[in-house]
Amino acid sequence: MKTFSIKDIFDNKIKINTEIKIYGWVRSKRDSSIGISFIDIFDGSCANILQIVVKPYLSNYKNKITKLTSGCSIYVIGTLIFSNRKEQKYELISKKLKVFGFVKHPDKYPISLKKHTFEYLRKFSHLRPRTKFFGSVSRIRNSLFNAINNFFCKENFVWVPTPIITGLNTEGSGAMFKVYPYDFCKDNNKSLKKKKFFFNYFLTVSGQLTLETYASALSKVYTFGPVFRSENSNTKIHLSEFWMLEVEAYFYDLKKIILLSKNILQHISKYIFKNCYSEIKFLEKSFNKNIINNLKDLMTLNFAEIDYKDVIKLLNKLGKSISFGEDISSDQEKYIVNKYFKKPVIIKNFPRNLKAFYMRNNSDNITVASMDIFLPKVGEVIGGSQREERLKFLDKKFLEFNLNKKKYWWYRDLRKYGTSFHSGFGVGFERLLCYIIGLDNIREASPFPKTLGKFDY
Ligand code: 4AD
Ligand code: MG
Repeated sequence: MKTFSIKDIFDNKIKINTEIKIYGWVRSKRDSSIGISFIDIFDGSCANILQIVVKPYLSNYKNKITKLTSGCSIYVIGTLIFSNRKEQKYELISKKLKVFGFVKHPDKYPISLKKHTFEYLRKFSHLRPRTKFFGSVSRIRNSLFNAINNFFCKENFVWVPTPIITGLNTEGSGAMFKVYPYDFCKDNNKSLKKKKFFFNYFLTVSGQLTLETYASALSKVYTFGPVFRSENSNTKIHLSEFWMLEVEAYFYDLKKIILLSKNILQHISKYIFKNCYSEIKFLEKSFNKNIINNLKDLMTLNFAEIDYKDVIKLLNKLGKSISFGEDISSDQEKYIVNKYFKKPVIIKNFPRNLKAFYMRNNSDNITVASMDIFLPKVGEVIGGSQREERLKFLDKKFLEFNLNKKKYWWYRDLRKYGTSFHSGFGVGFERLLCYIIGLDNIREASPFPKTLGKFDY
C-alpha cells in the first residue's frame, strides 16, 4: 500500500476511489449522533486538513478511536472520495486506523484547539509548529530558502560557506559573542588559559570579509548561514542569532548591486507567490489581508530610491529636526517608510561616520557608497555597499575606526594583488520573512528565537 501526504491529495496526484495510507496528527474529532466519527488530520505537508470518516465497525473503534483528541498521532488506510462538505474537497473513508501516540492529559495539552496568542505560543517553541499558522510560516520559510538558492544557481553565483567561528570582527562593533572551551568556563582552568589560541575566537557577526576573498577569485559569490549578535536590543526586529544571506560581486558598483538586490527581492516574491499560493490564501483569510499586495510591491519593484542627504532635507521639511551626519532614528525611519512613501525605500550614500569601515568613500570624502533597503513595518532588511578597494583609503579607515590593521592582513592583501571595484550586501532572512507574512515580531519568524534571557532549546 502506497503512503501519500495530504499535499499529494490536494495537488490531485491521487485518483478518486483509490485506497491509500496516510500518516498524521489529529486536529479535531466529532462524533455524530448516528455513530460515525469525523476526524480532521494534518501532516504538515500543506495548510489543508483531511477529513477521515470512521464507522463504528472498526475493531478498535470503541476503545481507541473514540478516545482520540487533538494532537494524537495516527495512520489510516482508506478510500479517497469527494466530500459533500463545501469547506472540504476530499475525505477518506477509513478501513483501518492505528493510533501511535495518545495525548496524555488532553486538558493540559498546551496546543489545544482554542486560539492562542503569539506570546503564549513562544513558550512552546517545540509544539507551536503544530498549529495551522506556524505550519504555514514554516513552509513559507522553506520556500524562501529555496527561492534564494534557486536565484543564485540560475545567475551562476558560487556558494561559499564562510566561517562561523572567526577571529575577526567584520562590522567593527562590540556586538560579538566570544567562544571559550567549555572546560575553561567550568573550572577557570589555568593551563588552558595559557594556550592562547583558544581565546581569540568569536561567533561571526557577518561572513562578508571572508566572502570578499572568494569574490576576488570567483567574481560572483554568496554565503547563507547563521550569524550572531550580542547587542542588547530587546526589540521586535532583533535576534541574537539570525540567518543572513550575503552577496559579494567583483566589478559591480553601487548602482549594479542595488539592481541585483532588487532582482533578488523580485525573484523571491514571484517564487513564493507561485509555490506557496495555498499558504498565502490561507494567511490572507486568517491573518493578513495585505499579504498579496506586499508581495506585489516586491514583484513590480515599486520602490522609492533616495539619498541620505535628501532624507535629511525631507525630514526637516516635514517638521522633524535632524542634521546631516546624525543617524536617522527608528521613529523617523518608520515615518519615512510607513507614512510618507508607504512602500519599500532604498536610502543611499550615508555619511561615512555612520557606516562600517569597509565601505567605499565617495568623491566628496564625507559620504560612502552605501545602500540600505527598508521594507514597510519591518524596517531595514538589506544593508550593503561598494567596498573600499584602495589600500591607501582602507588603511586610513582602520585608523579612523581604531582597528588594528595587522589583524586584517589578508583583507589588505586583496587590495595589493589585483584589486578592483566590487560591492555586496547582506539580507536579514527573518526580517524578510516578517515582511512577506506580515509578522509584527521577529520572534515568530525564527523557529527557536534567541533573544535576551532564558533559552531552553
Ligand atoms: O546591516 P548589517 O549589519 O550588515 C552587515 O552585516 C554587512 N556585513 C552585510 C554585507 O554587506 N555583507 O546586517 C545586514 C542585515 C540587516 O539589514 C538586517 O536585515 C539584518 O541583517 N540584521 C538583523 N536581523 C535580525 N536581528 C538582528 N540583530 C539583526 N542585525 C542585522
Ligand atoms: Mg545595517
